[in-house]
Amino acid sequence: LCGIIGVAIDVNNNCSEFKAAEIITKGLKSLEYRGYDSVGIALIDKNTRKIIVKKGKGKLDDVSKEYSFLLTPGCIGIGHTRWATHGAPTNINAHPHTDCKGDIALVHNGIIKNFLSLKKMLLNSGHTFKSDTDTEVVAHLIEELASTSSNFYEGFKKSISMLEGSFALAVVTTYEPEKIFFAKKESPLIIGLSKSSNFLASDIPAMLEYTNEFVPLNDGDIGWLSPREVFIENLKAGIVEIRKRKILVDWKPEMAKKGGYPHYMIKEIYEQPLALKSTFEGLISDETIIEAADLISKKDKIFIAAAGTSYHAGLVTKYFIEKITGRAVYTFISSEYKNIEYLVDNDTAIIVISQSGETIDTIKAMRSSKNRGGVIFAITNVIGSTIGREANYVVPMRAGPEIGVAATKTFLTQVLVGSMLAVNLGKSIGKINETEYNQMINTLSYSPNIVGSSISMTEGIMKKLPERFSSKNSIYFLGRGLGVPLAYEAALKMKEITYIHAEAYPAGESKHGPIALIEKDFPVFFVVTKDTYEEIASNIAEMNARDAYTIALASEEKLENLQPRLTITVPKVDLLLEPYSLIPPIQLLSYYTAVVRGLDPDKPRNLAKTVTVE
Ligand code: F6R
Repeated sequence: LCGIIGVAIDVNNNCSEFKAAEIITKGLKSLEYRGYDSVGIALIDKNTRKIIVKKGKGKLDDVSKEYSFLLTPGCIGIGHTRWATHGAPTNINAHPHTDCKGDIALVHNGIIKNFLSLKKMLLNSGHTFKSDTDTEVVAHLIEELASTSSNFYEGFKKSISMLEGSFALAVVTTYEPEKIFFAKKESPLIIGLSKSSNFLASDIPAMLEYTNEFVPLNDGDIGWLSPREVFIENLKAGIVEIRKRKILVDWKPEMAKKGGYPHYMIKEIYEQPLALKSTFEGLISDETIIEAADLISKKDKIFIAAAGTSYHAGLVTKYFIEKITGRAVYTFISSEYKNIEYLVDNDTAIIVISQSGETIDTIKAMRSSKNRGGVIFAITNVIGSTIGREANYVVPMRAGPEIGVAATKTFLTQVLVGSMLAVNLGKSIGKINETEYNQMINTLSYSPNIVGSSISMTEGIMKKLPERFSSKNSIYFLGRGLGVPLAYEAALKMKEITYIHAEAYPAGESKHGPIALIEKDFPVFFVVTKDTYEEIASNIAEMNARDAYTIALASEEKLENLQPRLTITVPKVDLLLEPYSLIPPIQLLSYYTAVVRGLDPDKPRNLAKTVTVE
């Protein structure tokens, strides 16, 4: 986890005294979703050529104010926002970390697994440590090896080759004050190219304001950048030709800003019609999804791997593939891949779903499956990400950058890609004819409109409802069929941003244990999808009989059969479109509940948007 950023601006071109500090601080703001336990910066003072480090525990706004980040002089610098792994979130453990003499400062995202043995060796050589972090060891290791190498870069390279674990590292040093040195293994790191300045960061949005030309780094890449030059080599493959690796990204900086909304999360909920429209248009503009479906249809086994919200999108995808094609799909949580990897062979298609394309568990599941001959189809929002680069086929979602830690627009765009894949598979396998195919694609083209109508129909009640149960300790979300993964997503959204204990179950299963918790006014939400009305009606009755506060999210269709204490009406739609009518009210409910409870929905405690550690 953690977010890192670096910038090198040409002193003679546009580098006013505090320019680098401004760029780094702004970049850290957009990277805060990756962790906000502590934050820090290190700049090379252009007059004294010494390193200035400012850092502290807490969120960027407070720490930056306390230490006047914006008044730090320099044109070359790095910054870090932390999600603590080794060492508590304290001032001392905040990055950047320095060597003994203060000639090297570095920021790190990842975990150095062999830091204890390295630390022992360095302690024996007389190094003293200030923090409990694995990262500080790297600063001292570079100090040690740079002093005995022909130049700083050689020492840096030797140090990197001794590290085990995962890292995206950026280093500034008084030995070569015009450069930022970097290295990448497993944790994401992207170089941003511009005329008289170059950048590096953990993600693209942090640099969007300055450039749209990027070079995503691969594992084993190491190098340096200065204001006008970038050098990258791969420890295995040799010197990297930047021209060949360069990608152009058409995201606009405004897309990564709040645009007048109080939080990113609500902005991103409202952006869903637009995100779905561009995803749909992208999918029908070329043959990618048709080709992917053709290839998948020829494989004997279909697996889906994903984590968190993406896993729920995987369950929805499984539901539609099975329903439309009649073929069984096995969806598994990425971190559990070791338990199924032996089932993968060269007759297996693995669909990996990841918004960021950088979730380490999903990367590992992908790599393990690929090594066993499986063919990887990635659904991702970031084409230049590790998963986007390493998969055999990529079907992009085009949701635009998602900053809120809780996934919203990326969930429904993943569901749209998954559903389009299911329909195309149906056609490839011959389960649906041309007319049925065209009808289904046409139906899915309405997904943006359905989200829009669902938001307008439910926003009023979803603003009021939290007052009724924001003080509750627990909530259940129950569904059947397609409603089950939607209920899982509802419970995840609720617990992660409101901290209310929320659990989801198949409604029928609720009688096998969960019902024991029901007492007067315990809130139980029913996510009611097509063809489940009758059975759900009985489940509602059972909960009513125990005095639960039952709430049904359903379309007006057959509503009279249900007898919940409250009904929230959503648009009446075809089965393929039900995620787009049922999910927005659930997202709004979690959002407004967090707000009523005085919490920041964009920065849930203990969480980070992209989980790059196992
Ligand atoms: C929840 C959420 C997470 C992510 C999960 C996977 O709101 O955002 O559960 O869905 O960490 O992330 P990606 O999709 O980037 O692999």
